Amino acid sequence: MPRAHTLTIEPLGRDAIALTQCMAIDADAFPYASVHFGQRTSSLRVLVARDEREARVVGFLAGRVRRGIFGIHGLAVDRAIRRRGVGRALVREAVVLARAERLRAVVLQVGVANVAALALYRAEGFRAVQRVRDYYPASVYGERDAYQMLRML
Ligand SMILES: CC(C)(COP(=O)(O)OP(=O)(O)OC[C@H]1O[C@@H](n2cnc3c(N)ncnc32)[C@H](O)[C@@H]1OP(=O)(O)O)[C@@H](O)C(=O)NCCC(=O)NCCS
Repeated sequence: MPRAHTLTIEPLGRDAIALTQCMAIDADAFPYASVHFGQRTSSLRVLVARDEREARVVGFLAGRVRRGIFGIHGLAVDRAIRRRGVGRALVREAVVLARAERLRAVVLQVGVANVAALALYRAEGFRAVQRVRDYYPASVYGERDAYQMLRML
């Protein structure tokens, strides 16, 4: 598979079609909505990845700024083009964004069995600071614990 070399990462803005595409990727990736995309509060940051060859949104990263920290609430890539660098590009751009806003750190929670996401975050400099027992409701995943991961800026 070729790398997604025509990838661009940008804020979601007010593009209703891109918003719908984010929600579709979210619904396919998770058994719950990772973020309320329609609730455009001032703390919400949404980055979208586009691949010119696909002419659509192929991934998103969403989070909120709170008390000087960017908390990632959702990251997902269209399953048809995973493992081509889209997730990494989104995480890197989130770090750039957080630095530009002079935030102190980026934090997130990730399921302890989520091998792909854990590998991505570790490779991008995040470290697990805490294991959160029963973070996910019983009906969501077989393994309910999550790691809280942190990257200081
Ligand atoms: C996690 C996710 C966003 C990764 O996106 P992606 O575009 O496929 O990831 P990338 O291609 O940028 O991978 C970057 C690195 O992450 C690691 N990685 C990604 N997928 C992996 C997998 N399936 N197994 C092991 N490592 C993996 C690798 O280190 C990879 O680098 P490499 O390809 O050079 O070896 C994607 O798998 C996804 O959408 N999963 C479902 C939603 C989810 O779990 N989100 C995270 C919630 S916290």
